Amino acid sequence: MKNKNFLSILDLNDGEVESIISKAASIKQGNTPQILSDKTVALVFEKPSLRTRVSFEVGIKQMGGSCIFLSNNEIGLGIREPVADVAKVLDRLVDCVVARVFSHRSLELLADNTSIPIVNALSDQAHPCQALGDCLTIFEEKGDLEGLKLAFVGDGNNIAGSLALACASVGMNFSIASPESHKLPENIWDQAKVIAQNRGSNLIWTDDPKEAVVEADIVYTDVWVSMGDEEEKEERLSIFSSYQVNEQLVTLAKNDFLFMHDMPAHRGEEISDGMLEHPNSVVYHQAENRLHAQKAVLAELFGY
Ligand code: NVA
Repeated sequence: MKNKNFLSILDLNDGEVESIISKAASIKQGNTPQILSDKTVALVFEKPSLRTRVSFEVGIKQMGGSCIFLSNNEIGLGIREPVADVAKVLDRLVDCVVARVFSHRSLELLADNTSIPIVNALSDQAHPCQALGDCLTIFEEKGDLEGLKLAFVGDGNNIAGSLALACASVGMNFSIASPESHKLPENIWDQAKVIAQNRGSNLIWTDDPKEAVVEADIVYTDVWVSMGDEEEKEERLSIFSSYQVNEQLVTLAKNDFLFMHDMPAHRGEEISDGMLEHPNSVVYHQAENRLHAQKAVLAELFGY
């Protein structure tokens, strides 16, 4: 890693997505390093979580460590106490902080005010652990990453941004269909473009889901209303109504395409009723691979 934290795919060195995936694959075979014995990890979660919380807690225990779960009711990041004060206290007491926050800025403040690793467990801008788990899933299913085409349909959100950066880093082509009003933030798109250019892959934006999905190896979607966007729910359901991934849309992808979703999923919104159970769906495989990928991230951060 470029420094002590994993807040974004941009914190990884060239080739590190691939090396974390091979480490994760080896860990999945049963080679879990016991590098967290005598170590305590604080899980600071401002938002709800199923997959991320369970996979981190299980993974940390399997690596010999222990964890303390701290919900926002207990901590009140930036409300009960400034983020920097919370950071300086945790720095004295635990060995690592895994944090799920509303504002990415809170992660930066945690990182800037600690000497221990800070891991992004989802922010408004990024979900890098999800993207790494997804790369592991694609690699297992397809045997390679380079040259594949991943089509993301829907909101240019935290998941889409981390996938764009991860795809660019491994030489995967990435096409995203989103409404003009909900494109990926320009800074993320520009950074992904630079990486893709060096890696020789293509990044394409369109507002037409069909155009994005044509000949795709992977069709990926995420919720239209992310945690924190609830006030915009009605507006978003209307803006994204023509962006549903359904059985008809995916006929444009390659026959052996993978259907992916980070979950939770909303049937009748971003997906039709049958997509999670579609024969090409790998969504539960994705959920499991969060565990292996995150163990590889922790191994990397603790110098294994
Ligand atoms: N974009 C979603 C991802 C959930 C794992 C959210 O931020 O709520």
